[in-house]
Amino acid sequence: MVGFLQTTVLALISSGFVLALPNPISYPALKPDTLPGIAGATQLTYENEAVAGIDILEQWYGSNGLWNNEWWNSANIITMLADFQDFSPGQVSGYTSTVFPYTFNNAPSWGAFTGFINQYYDDELWWCLAWIKVFDVTGTQMYLDMASSIFEDAKNAWGQPSCGGLYWEKGNTAVNAIENSLYLTAAAKLANRKPSTPSGGYYFNEAIKAYTWFVNSGLINKQFLINDGLTAGCVNNGNTPWSYNQGAILGGLTELTWSTGDPTYTNLAVNIANATITLLTDSNGILTDACGTCQGDSGQFKGVFARNIQFMYNRADGLTDATKAQFKTFLQNNADALWLKDQTGNYLGPIWDGPYVTADVNSQSSALDLLVAAAGVSTASG
Ligand SMILES: *[C@@H]1O[C@H](CO)[C@@H](O)[C@H](O)[C@H]1NC(C)=O
Repeated sequence: MVGFLQTTVLALISSGFVLALPNPISYPALKPDTLPGIAGATQLTYENEAVAGIDILEQWYGSNGLWNNEWWNSANIITMLADFQDFSPGQVSGYTSTVFPYTFNNAPSWGAFTGFINQYYDDELWWCLAWIKVFDVTGTQMYLDMASSIFEDAKNAWGQPSCGGLYWEKGNTAVNAIENSLYLTAAAKLANRKPSTPSGGYYFNEAIKAYTWFVNSGLINKQFLINDGLTAGCVNNGNTPWSYNQGAILGGLTELTWSTGDPTYTNLAVNIANATITLLTDSNGILTDACGTCQGDSGQFKGVFARNIQFMYNRADGLTDATKAQFKTFLQNNADALWLKDQTGNYLGPIWDGPYVTADVNSQSSALDLLVAAAGVSTASG
């Protein structure tokens, strides 16, 4: 995570430009009779809510191609937009056709992060996943090639820690869950999109290596929750099992089953997902992180989990009907709670079960991940 650039520098940079930002996307007026909380919220309900929320997000989009100068968070916004485009291109592709290339071309210069490389391996890998998803929905090769080149920086550092795996930050000995789950997922996704480039199994071998390390690292506890990191002695540090630690690994495990036909990976993902839905929720079943008011970065976490539950619902091989029903109910209930209790004037807060206090770019984009995910598991009839 990074947020160190001086605001004065940013003010100088941004005051020098008058930039034609992409037009805010137009959306159908929200229809009160389709608002959730009333039985039968439909895919269109969630899509309308998502579009309204994206319209709010637009005010934070800067001439540097980032939202509110937030680095890794902006990668997650790109991913959310691409997820939405995946199943609802008519709603959002007029906007993303400008935003994707604009951010691609302009964001790295913000922090002199050439090629989306900075000092944090998790930050890099969020961008890697963002450009993979953008490639998935646009078919434009430059995005996939950028993802590969970002991945290479992390690949070169994998195995440096005495515990194995990947350091969180260059020059810091902490080994955390997030950069390692992101590495696994990025490798698994690149393997399915570049199975024989630059050589056969290049990315697949990394994915298996990362998976084998992860399941033997002790990061996954007896409850199937992933704690935040390892101690210097290379055992689970027992720190908070943040929702994004659970979410980030699910996509990679799902795709490892695609490439191997082995259900072991998806089964592990289902267990982690179930543990999260069961144990990291409040009495109403609403996802809750242990961050109090969850301002700033921690407000970003929950959306990553919601996004990956939608991905599993639609793309995982061999899910049981009971698991699919659990995932769909979870996403719809969370989205309905968010809209009723944590939304004011389309601003979306970080406490999905309410009360709404305030929104920032992180809470807005995290909640948008949830609304997009709810749309992605819903139909015209609910
Ligand atoms: C889901 O997780 C809960 C809490 O750990 C557990 O009691 C339950 O058996 C799990 N369900 C499945 C289907 O694994």
